[in-house]
Amino acid sequence: MTRPDTSPLRIGIAGLGTVGAGVVKLLAANAGAIAARAGRPVAVTAVSARSRGRDRGVDLAPYAWEDDAVRLAARDDVDCVVEVVGGSNGPAKALVEAALAAGKPVVTANKALIAHHGQALAEAAEAAGVALRAEAGVAGGIPVMKALTEGLAANRIHRVSGVLNGTCNYILTEMAATGRGYAEVLAEAQAKGYAEADPAFDVGGTDAAHKLAILAAAAFGTRVDFAGVTTEGIERITAADIETAGDLGFAIKLLAVARMEAGGLEQRVRPTMVPRESLIGSLPGVTNAVVLEGDFVGTCAFTGPGAGEGPTASAIVADLMDIARGAAGPLFAQPAAGLRAAERLDYSDEHAPYYLRFSLLDRPGALAALASAIGEAGVSIHRMRQYGRGGARAGAVPVVIVTHDARREMIDGAVARIAALDVSAAEPVAIAIEEI
Ligand SMILES: NC(=O)c1ccc[n+]([C@@H]2O[C@H](COP(=O)([O-])OP(=O)(O)OC[C@H]3O[C@@H](n4cnc5c(N)ncnc54)[C@H](OP(=O)(O)O)[C@@H]3O)[C@@H](O)[C@H]2O)c1
Repeated sequence: MTRPDTSPLRIGIAGLGTVGAGVVKLLAANAGAIAARAGRPVAVTAVSARSRGRDRGVDLAPYAWEDDAVRLAARDDVDCVVEVVGGSNGPAKALVEAALAAGKPVVTANKALIAHHGQALAEAAEAAGVALRAEAGVAGGIPVMKALTEGLAANRIHRVSGVLNGTCNYILTEMAATGRGYAEVLAEAQAKGYAEADPAFDVGGTDAAHKLAILAAAAFGTRVDFAGVTTEGIERITAADIETAGDLGFAIKLLAVARMEAGGLEQRVRPTMVPRESLIGSLPGVTNAVVLEGDFVGTCAFTGPGAGEGPTASAIVADLMDIARGAAGPLFAQPAAGLRAAERLDYSDEHAPYYLRFSLLDRPGALAALASAIGEAGVSIHRMRQYGRGGARAGAVPVVIVTHDARREMIDGAVARIAALDVSAAEPVAIAIEEI
């Protein structure tokens, strides 16, 4: 029997922002426990970021510095690279490719990179015989990639769902708790550091879509299909939508769902009304949740911090410990070459009751025109409520409709008909209601 390698696993870290500095801190704070559990120390030897002089709250003096992050891959004192620069291309991609080509394992928190290039990078890692891991890229501190690739690996997973973006969950939770509008709560989230200065990736649903595409690949044995995620953000949700949802016993969440049915894959991220008392409906603040449904295990739910220095570092270091042990399996639970390209399920076929919000000009006959347009689209109305005057535009009146079960195609048809009416004062909003 060969003796286990007890020499330190030497790490080069690219990016020393929130996550990179967190990794440095965690490796120092828990060095003893990490070495004991991994069977060998995990030690930083070299680092890189944009500005060398910036104070990052950690002592970087013991580590070699590279101005060019890609050079970390070629260093003799770096066995393994941590990429926490970010971005789907640029230096992050160049570094990961260079490290894998040099036969060095990589740990990344970069969901954008994996959502766009995960297949090619996983194949490159396998060709080089080294690990590529990205636990921190999906739901931050929640070990959900580990659950899919290890703990639940014997199951056929048929559905993955959850709340994968903490910024959106914070905004929606605050709007519900305080009755304040989207713009005001977003500004507060930015001031508190929960939302980026440019929040478009978060509030537009792209960040959650990146994570969902990665989860789906690991869950279903399919190639990452980020382009196949139907994505809608929370930007158009109003305080009135949330209040009405509350009246109906629902909360609005940015729900991500991937499901495999008869060989077809559906992936969607969109605001959804879910029962307020459910696990997802009651999820507070920046918390994330992931629900995995497998054929033998049943339903497993995970909740926890989806971002932040500590949780993200926790996930990265766990991946590093697997690499130190020589026990890091494939990124997507099976060799990447064996992943199949999934057919996209026809989304228009999906059934659900819907919440519809319209803004109508305050004119005689407006409501009748609305009702008949809905009827013509084949959608049947369960409840209808007209609010007082003074909607989004002066002279406009918000009208809310809850439909009976309807196909998405019919809802899209109704929305298009109503948007085209001359009494329609603003783009209609349609939110699916899911009894999860
Ligand atoms: N923050 C979270 O909670 C979280 C959670 C999960 C995943 N992630 C992912 O983790 C990654 C990093 O996120 P973060 O929040 O730590 O970002 P961040 O705070 O903006 O840090 C990015 C770091 O990358 C460095 N950098 C930028 N361009 C570089 C270049 N060309 N060469 C070398 N270094 C460069 C920056 O250097 P300077 O400091 O000198 O500017 C900075 O240290 C992203 O992929 C993100 O999506 C973040």
